[in-house]
Amino acid sequence: MQVTVFSAQPFDRRFLDNAMAGTGFEPVYQPVALSLQTVALAECARAVCVFVNDVLDAPVLTELHGLGVRIVVLRCAGYNNVDLEAAQRLGIAVARVPAYSPQAVAEHTLALIMTLNRHTHRAFNRVREGNFNLDGLLGVTLHGRTVGVVGTGRIGLATARILHGLGCRVLGFDPNPAPEFAMIGEAVDFDTLLARADIVSLHCPLAEATHHLINADALSRMKPGAMLVNTSRGGLIDTRAVIEALRTRQLGALAIDVYEQESELFFRDHSQEIINDDMFARLAMFPNVLITGHQGFFTEEALDEIAHTTRDNLLALAAGHTCHNALIQPEV
Ligand code: NAI
Repeated sequence: MQVTVFSAQPFDRRFLDNAMAGTGFEPVYQPVALSLQTVALAECARAVCVFVNDVLDAPVLTELHGLGVRIVVLRCAGYNNVDLEAAQRLGIAVARVPAYSPQAVAEHTLALIMTLNRHTHRAFNRVREGNFNLDGLLGVTLHGRTVGVVGTGRIGLATARILHGLGCRVLGFDPNPAPEFAMIGEAVDFDTLLARADIVSLHCPLAEATHHLINADALSRMKPGAMLVNTSRGGLIDTRAVIEALRTRQLGALAIDVYEQESELFFRDHSQEIINDDMFARLAMFPNVLITGHQGFFTEEALDEIAHTTRDNLLALAAGHTCHNALIQPEV
């Protein structure tokens, strides 16, 4: 069975080829993202395999259905890019990889916090140029600081555990808090978290209710000079409001692995081009902003887990068996 793999990177090929070997699935790799302009590439496929910035809205799903596609497998946990109602209506099965090494994203969150706090990225460049001046490299001791974790699910909990291990006071806000969180931190409401945290780290999914969760109002209720970290989804943050809060120094530092308009930029080399995104360019100019290009998941272990779960999802859906990772499974 042909599976068209959209937004395919060389590493996807390596891990998926390995996982699919001997299954009868024939992955066809397309480096472009799925959209109305590229959907025709799924011709002859019964399944498509997609990632975070592929578009699966109603028009794209309708086109996919017309081409004979009946299965969508996501190589990620978040599914904010899929119109599930449309998939249900069209009878297209959709499955995701709900968990893949939450520690990978948690560890990247920590890397961002540590780097931004102690300016190791700037120190690295200075030392290479023979500049051993410490001016501008001052950080704070994280031990004893208060960190607010928004969303204490798999990744939030893993992050909270690491921060707790560092000796931080951990506050958590989650409408459905995991019972394990009580062993590590204090569950509080959103306003209390914003008011008390020196670092606010976002780990909740992007949905209608969480779109621009961090807007001008939320930023004004944060501790002046606090750090904001987002390794979840770009849409959780109102970028314009964040730029203004950085400009007025209400926000002390920002670390992001995700960006609302990332689909235009991330996962590709634009180093020879002029980037036509003024908000991104403005953000990148701040000395207290650290940006990575959606690499929180990018470890050997996580990629292996993603590839094997994707294979298992395809096997179950193609055989009409119950797929535990299905978001929509019309035939069962
Ligand atoms: P999860 O489903 O285990 O946990 C999410 C938690 O957020 C749940 O406990 C839920 O109750 C909570 N939540 C829902 N609405 C909330 C709100 N308004 N305020 C606070 N909490 C709320 O998901 P998991 O695996 O921890 O992933 C979290 C997010 O991380 C994903 O939605 C995805 O967007 C992002 N992610 C980013 C990756 C990266 O490479 N940077 C990789 C994988 C996931």
